[in-house]
Amino acid sequence: MITEATKERFAREVAKYPADQKQSAVMACLSIVQQEQGWVSPESEAVIAEYLGMAEIAVHEVTTFYNMYNQRPVGKYKLGVCTNLPCQLRDGYKALHHLEARLGIKMGETTADGLFTLQQTECLGSCADSPVMLVNDRHMCSFMSNEKLDELLEGLKAAEGKQE
Ligand code: FES
Repeated sequence: MITEATKERFAREVAKYPADQKQSAVMACLSIVQQEQGWVSPESEAVIAEYLGMAEIAVHEVTTFYNMYNQRPVGKYKLGVCTNLPCQLRDGYKALHHLEARLGIKMGETTADGLFTLQQTECLGSCADSPVMLVNDRHMCSFMSNEKLDELLEGLKAAEGKQE
């Protein structure tokens, strides 16, 4: 559900653009919804479309174009491993497969406790640091050897009081 407080945040984004170009705030509005709800539902897209005076399909096109927008609920920690070609050549898939084995899930899935979602990402612009990954779309992790991946998982689990 989109609250009035959320719409106030939308309004602050819309105010950054000329009055006849409200739709320029669509990415910001989608990001606000994702920050607050963890994902962008079709219902949220409809509210944003109405708020910005856009067709729902135009909002949906933005949601589906950028893979950082979650189109379904995700775990508390979304782990996105780059598997584009330069990273494939430098252990990107090895990192992804290590996380699959450690978490007991396949790429695209979420652990049963709702803690981790594992995804592939497009190029993160840091090919020389491969394997690279993003945690929750914001925190970049570089040179992710299996040992560093294990440390990352242990650290996140420890932060949740869930150590192995
Ligand atoms: Fe992975 Fe560029 S291909 S960061």
